Amino acid sequence: MAKLLLVFFGLGVTTLFAGCYYDVEQELYGASCDTNAVTYSGTVAPMLQANGCLGCHAAPATAGNNIILDNQSSIANLVQQNRFISGADRMPPSPSPPALSDCNMDKLRAWANAGAPNN
Ligand code: HEC
Repeated sequence: MAKLLLVFFGLGVTTLFAGCYYDVEQELYGASCDTNAVTYSGTVAPMLQANGCLGCHAAPATAGNNIILDNQSSIANLVQQNRFISGADRMPPSPSPPALSDCNMDKLRAWANAGAPNN
């Protein structure tokens, strides 16, 4: 019986912590990351520019292994193949500028989910 109680107690504590963690993340992150109204010209292009991605990824992108991030159709292809998403984890190679933030990744996903339009 004591063992059973311990298990329930353990589950309770785990749930409690999981709950708090989620709440905090929502507060810190959900509120400040606005993925509505994401557009190519207003969000995606300036984001890549501001994060120094075009230094290696503007055509002919020889420094970026021919991965071209300076036009909508090329970015749309990469995003829809999920290469952007996975590739961004290690992009850019250190010690270059920092990789895209989680919020920027969410914006990219939102744009991809909307069909990656040229807007
Ligand atoms: C210093 C040069 C450099 C910078 C700056 C850079 N990249 Fe790259 N990127 C590369 C190279 C080289 C590759 C090819 C690496 C490979 O295929 O292993 C690459 C590949 C990629 C890919 C394709 C990954 C795949 O799965 O095929 C994506 C997407 C990408 N970069 C996004 C970015 C983004 C977003 C930024 C800006 C935050 C960025 N890169 C900044 C050099 C760079």
